[in-house]
Amino acid sequence: MISRRWSPRAFDSRPVEPEKLRSLFEAARWAASSYNAQPWFFIVATKDDPESFKKMLDSFVEFNQGWAKNAPVLALSVARMKFENNGEPNRHAFHDVGQAAATLALQATHLSLQVHQMAGILPGKARQIFSIPEGYEAVAGYAIGYPGDQTTLPDQLRQRELESRSRKPLASFVFTG
Ligand SMILES: Cc1cc2nc3c(=O)[nH]c(=O)nc-3n(C[C@H](O)[C@H](O)[C@H](O)COP(=O)(O)O)c2cc1C
Repeated sequence: MISRRWSPRAFDSRPVEPEKLRSLFEAARWAASSYNAQPWFFIVATKDDPESFKKMLDSFVEFNQGWAKNAPVLALSVARMKFENNGEPNRHAFHDVGQAAATLALQATHLSLQVHQMAGILPGKARQIFSIPEGYEAVAGYAIGYPGDQTTLPDQLRQRELESRSRKPLASFVFTG
């Protein structure tokens, strides 16, 4: 499942079944988090709600809008930056939103869906559009759906889509002593 997860930019127009979509967030719900604070929030927009879908797209940078507009589901994650119980800063808020996102993406892979995460969002605009309160930060955007026909992508994006996925070797980031 880990090796089958990837980040497509070509999505099929087929909608995501509501029970499958729900199960992605159920998976996110069970992620580990510092002090079990669960500092993650997700705003979700499906294509059958065009107004919300447009609002979501408007909170992404132009490059991401270009391909994400074809995904049937878009989402935005938000982190609560302070602990609920004592108001102290949660230094691991973004870390834990990332854990929830990773869990969500694996559940998507399990269901033959894929999730393309995006740093390319407009946090200030997202705050305005979705009335994100102080103490909460927009973290990332997500395009969710069934992978689509790569030949529909513009040349440059298609090339990137077909490149083999690569990673740095273990020895470059795992150390002892
Ligand atoms: C937090 C995060 C932010 C990312 N931001 C973008 C983005 O703004 N636009 C984009 O096209 N891809 C984005 N990506 C996708 C990465 O480029 C992709 O995950 C990476 O190249 C590894 O490819 P893979 O996910 O297919 O294994 C992002 C991924 C993550 C996890």
